[in-house]
Amino acid sequence: MKILAIESSCDETAAAVVEDGTKVLSNVINTQIDLHKAFGGVVPEVASRKHIENISDVIDIALAEAEVSLSEVDAIAVTYGPGLVGALLVGVSTAKALAFAAKKPLIPVHHIKGHICANYIEYPDFKPPFICLVASGGHSHIVYVKDYNTYEVLAKTGDDAAGEAFDKVSRVLGLGYPGGPAIQECAKSGNPDAIRFPRVNMGDSGFDFSFSGVKTAVINYIHNAEQKGLEINKADIAASFQNAVIDVLSGHLIECAKKYKTKRIALAGGVAANRPLRERCERLAHENNMEFVCPSMKLCTDNAAMIGCAAYYEYRAGKLADMSLNAIANLALG
Ligand code: KG4
Ligand code: ZN
Repeated sequence: MKILAIESSCDETAAAVVEDGTKVLSNVINTQIDLHKAFGGVVPEVASRKHIENISDVIDIALAEAEVSLSEVDAIAVTYGPGLVGALLVGVSTAKALAFAAKKPLIPVHHIKGHICANYIEYPDFKPPFICLVASGGHSHIVYVKDYNTYEVLAKTGDDAAGEAFDKVSRVLGLGYPGGPAIQECAKSGNPDAIRFPRVNMGDSGFDFSFSGVKTAVINYIHNAEQKGLEINKADIAASFQNAVIDVLSGHLIECAKKYKTKRIALAGGVAANRPLRERCERLAHENNMEFVCPSMKLCTDNAAMIGCAAYYEYRAGKLADMSLNAIANLALG
């Protein structure tokens, strides 16, 4: 079964053709990062306008690279939430138009399910049940994936997402957007134990996240140093901040896996592209006799192949949409 998948929830216009869930025939990503760099973050209206300009070309290229025509695909899948609503609407209305014109089933996909399913593409033997840490610019969730269609959110953030904290700290340090890769690079020459930034546990279970405290602590640290006329060591700040975030993300993931007696853990989302985070989780998994997987960098950040993969399992569960499908900015996972 060949699915044409479309993703436009944030600042990547993406289309892919995926066969039987895990065989990626094409995966085209048109990123707007350079456009938003000037603003230090994603400007929603600018993102929507760029999506509408690019989406037809991106889809044409995805079909051409997969060497299939629209009439040869079996279904059209699209991210319908969560995300920036104006950005999502471009993908949703395009997918609806294509499904209507080509008389194909329309499969609505939750963006976070897509991130999680990215793991199936590269690890065909990796199957539910497992516990996945999904950390991106908009979300920080620990999700219990009970089977291909049953997801339970075990923990989430009460304020900022992990990626958002990376982006904000990067901006304060003058390292630019997106913050994650910039902080990771700057941190390479820093001491991760130079400054003790806070590690916060939230919620009844203690597994919920809060990243606004660590972000504020970094900002206060920099302001204090400036007021005293002291020079700051950006590399030490970046490394210490990154270390604090990794301690919390990896710690909660492992503790959740222990609590739910799961021997399989996974990472997903843009922050999962962070090398020290991947390495820490891999080490902790090994120490605790757990199987660990994480998508390659290209499948961690937003892409449509992951949406095509998730769509396959949605389709098999009969979850289709009709022409009333709408975008839902804060779509819950369930
Ligand atoms: O999944 P994604 O592409 O988009 C959303 O769904 O939000 O994630 C983007 C986020 C940004 O906040 C970016 O700074 C972060 O992922 N990110 C990273 C790294 N690469 C991207 N964070 C930490 N380390 C990285 N190497
Ligand atoms: Zn994402």
